[in-house]
This record gives sequence, C-alpha cells and structure tokens, in this order.
Amino acid sequence: MIDQVVILLGPPGSGKGTQATRLSAELGVPHVATGDMFRTQMEEGTDLGQRAGRYMDSGRLVPDELVTEMLFVRVDGEDCVEGYVLDGFPRNLSQAESLDQGLEGRWSSSVASLEVPDEVLVERIAGRLLCREDSNHIYHASFSPPKVEGVCDECGGELYRREDDNPEVVAERLYVYREQTAAVITHYAQDGRLEPVDGNQGPDEVYRALRSAVEGSDVEEGG
Ligand code: AP5
Ligand code: MG
Repeated sequence: MIDQVVILLGPPGSGKGTQATRLSAELGVPHVATGDMFRTQMEEGTDLGQRAGRYMDSGRLVPDELVTEMLFVRVDGEDCVEGYVLDGFPRNLSQAESLDQGLEGRWSSSVASLEVPDEVLVERIAGRLLCREDSNHIYHASFSPPKVEGVCDECGGELYRREDDNPEVVAERLYVYREQTAAVITHYAQDGRLEPVDGNQGPDEVYRALRSAVEGSDVEEGG
C-alpha cells in the first residue's frame, strides 16, 4: 500500500511515460496520463476527444475545464484508492492549485521533475514510436528499437508516430512548456516538495534516480 500520489513532471520527450509505466508497475498503482487519456478519447471519436484534439494537434494546452474534471473523475476510481502515478498533470499553475486542493488532507504526494536539455528532447521525440494497443509500450527508432520493425515486442501491436510529434508542433509544445508549465516546477520548488531528477541518462539510470527521489519522499512499496 502506498497511499501516496507521485507527480511526475518534465518537458515533452523527457521520459515521463517511459518512467511512469515502470514506476506504477513496481508500486502496483495506476499510471494516470492525461495525454494518453485524450488520445484514447480522440480514437474513440468522443466529443471530448474532438475538442481536445484541436488543441493537441497544434501543441497548445487543452483548456483546464476539459482536463481537470476528466482527471478527477479518473483518480476517483476504485483502482486509485492506494495511490497513483500522475504523468502530464498539472501543466499550469491553475491545475497545480486544483490538484493541491484535491489532495489536501487526504493524500501525501511526492513531486519528481525529469530534467533533459532541449536538443535531446527533440531527438527523442523525432524517433518515438508508440504501440496502438497499449500507450505504455514506448519505443525509439534508435535508442530503444523494437525487435521487428513496426511491431510491438510486448503485444504484437502496430507501432505508430504521434500526430503532434512533427517538428513544428514540437517547437510549440516546448514553447508552451516554458511559458506555462515551468511555473509549476517553481510552485513545487517553493514549497520544498520538488525532487529534480537527471533525465539525460539511460532509462535504467533515470529510473534508479527517480526511485530514490520518490523513496526520499517516503513512498512505501506495496507488498
Ligand atoms: P502528453 O502526451 O503528456 O505529451 P508531453 O508532455 O508532450 O510528453 P510526451 O508524451 O511527448 O513525452 P514523455 O515525457 O512522456 O516521453 P516518453 O517517455 O514518451 O501531452 C500531449 C498533449 O496533450 C499536450 O501537448 C496537450 O495538448 C495535451 N495535454 C495533456 N495533458 C494536459 C494537461 N494536463 N493540460 C492541458 N493539456 C494537456 O519518451 C520520449 C521518447 O524518448 C521515446 O521514444 C522513448 O523511448 C525515449 N526515451 C525515454 N527515456 C529515454 C532515455 N532515458 N534515453 C533515451 N531515450 C529515452
Ligand atoms: Mg508521454
């Protein structure tokens, strides 16, 4: 039992999805990723997916009123009662304040921030491949290629490139990160909760650093 929320921050391509997948599996709690939730909605052609897609395709943030309710409904689910790993939320100060209120008195939280230079982010995003069957199966054409081109090692699903991974949209996502999401890092640094993690190393090294940052924030492992 962890009874704790892990908030994983970092710019586009910093490895949030890669690391959150592993951490949530080890801790035995769900990986809750707002970007993945929107992509599922888009694939299913829901009204929410269509509205969110207009923002995602151009690299802008989806408006808070569409994100926050979706997130709180999700983490209210039965499977989140012992904790969860948050990936991609909060992304601006208003979301951070909503989350602080939502967690207050009920949960303790730890906040880790993956730090990676821009040129590395661009390289990572340019080569990223994702599995259509499971968004937690993440590859890179050079850094972590699948055994068979275009096919997921874990489930045989088709690998694809994200619509918003093209260079123009990536530039906008990095700009939006600096303009809006960097303030979230400052917010958690100011209240003493931020654990910076060097994300510019191999995935196993990043995971070790993340694990010890999270342990330092008193997350107990599930049995
Ligand atoms: P989202 O899906 O959250 O995208 P993002 O934040 O831009 O981050 P990415 O998913 O691109 O990167 P990642 O950090 O997960 O890296 P990954 O592990 O895949 O959001 C998309 C959009 O949704 C937003 O632009 C916005 O429009 C909307 N949205 C979502 N949440 C929102 C919110 N709260 N409010 C408003 N709008 C919201 O790794 C990247 C690549 O690098 C992979 O190929 C991987 O194999 C490789 N890699 C990973 N780690 C390493 C390593 N250590 N060494 C070498 N390669 C590595
Ligand atoms: Mg991701």
